[in-house]
Amino acid sequence: MAEQLTAAVRRDSLHGLWSSRFVFILAVTGSAVGLGNIWKFPYIAGENGGGAFVAVYLLCVFAIGLPIMVGEVLIGRRGRRNPVATMTLLGEEEAGHRSWSLVGVLGVVTGFLILSFYSVIAGWTGAYIIKSAIGEFVGAAPEAVVQSFIALSGSAVNSGFWHTAFMGVTVFVVARGVERGLEQAVRFMVPALVVIMLILLGYAMNTGAFQQGFAFLFRPDFRALTGSGVLVAMGQAFFTLSLGMGAVMAYGAYLPQQASIIGTSVAVVCADTAIAILAGLVIFPIVFANGLDPNAGPGLIFETLPLAFGQLPGGAIFGALFFLLLAFAALTSGISLMEPAVAWIMENRGVGRASAAMLVGGVVWALGFMTVLSFNRLSDFRFWNGTIFDNMDFVTTNIMLPLGGLFITVFAGWVMCQNSSADELDETAGSLYRLWLFLARYVAPVAVLLIFFNAIGLLEPIFDALMPQGQL
Ligand code: PHE
Repeated sequence: MAEQLTAAVRRDSLHGLWSSRFVFILAVTGSAVGLGNIWKFPYIAGENGGGAFVAVYLLCVFAIGLPIMVGEVLIGRRGRRNPVATMTLLGEEEAGHRSWSLVGVLGVVTGFLILSFYSVIAGWTGAYIIKSAIGEFVGAAPEAVVQSFIALSGSAVNSGFWHTAFMGVTVFVVARGVERGLEQAVRFMVPALVVIMLILLGYAMNTGAFQQGFAFLFRPDFRALTGSGVLVAMGQAFFTLSLGMGAVMAYGAYLPQQASIIGTSVAVVCADTAIAILAGLVIFPIVFANGLDPNAGPGLIFETLPLAFGQLPGGAIFGALFFLLLAFAALTSGISLMEPAVAWIMENRGVGRASAAMLVGGVVWALGFMTVLSFNRLSDFRFWNGTIFDNMDFVTTNIMLPLGGLFITVFAGWVMCQNSSADELDETAGSLYRLWLFLARYVAPVAVLLIFFNAIGLLEPIFDALMPQGQL
């Protein structure tokens, strides 16, 4: 059956198309660039000892993330439906199995869960727009800045209020349709965010601790890295690139047929990585110059960046603008976390976009209070990886996204017939196609599995056999 399905498959999108490849790049960049780059990357790099973690993260981004992004976009464009319907359709076409739809369902659920905590952190950035604008941080000492963060995250009412506000805005935008507004927002937001980060970089270079911060990020000490650290680095590669849950697949469904998938993916991955590294280069010098702890956890950016804004001329305005842009970046990511579920409900239940968005938004909003409470009333309720938030983050980011990505790359690399994938990738330079196929078939799946096995200790006997003294 697969043989008949060659170059002829050209489906129409059910929800319209991006007006150009450039708009698609903007949309996927908007999805990828967000709290993952600026809030999460620095704090988990700090928790996992810096350099070695960053090296593994970069390796995962390019060896695992990039080929999976290509696979996810190509599946999305081939199917041109919501991720569940696309996986059902292509599963049937390429493998005669509708059960591939479960990969889509896994993605929808993952997006739900991630958005529930993402929205809480995004809400904090909203609060920081106001805090900065009213000059709360002007000339503030590190202790005062830490107290300010505790007053927000430590209050279920404050934190819940901002979480509600962020979900409200997200539902509003998704209800109006993804293309409108999103295009303009991203076109302006990403460059503006980079400009402010470059100003902050200038500040960080003058803190006197830039070298220390730089060394922390780039001098690897592999003894500091545990098996679970490697798992976290891989999870972060998926999280920051929005991979493994259908966000990129949903956007790929609206990609014009002639646009190059490989070129687009390379551009998005490079931009996303550059922004994360930039964030690290800004934050760690501030951490070391002020004697703060790189291991401060989810509050790290909220306890460091205000110090910089507090000392810069015009810092109140810059600070407010920065957090506004970060909230925008979070919004464009939040939209993409919601889009697979909304498109799925619309296509299945026959309800309109607005109702679907409100339904999804309501459930995610309620779920978000698990995270809100993890920083106050339930902060002592700890198990396994820590608070409820820590566990939700761990399971979704480090297990569900890589698992989804594994299925996606197996599907794109092994299940899909090569006529189909080569046709979608439209590579005249066949060697590029073969390189992708090699990465998608062997490198990405094997790496994901090895990192999973390693994290649960299954590889230890092998390491021990290779290195009897137990040194790596
Ligand atoms: N990539 C986004 C960020 O870095 C988060 C995200 C994850 C968005 C998964 C969509 C899907 O903030």
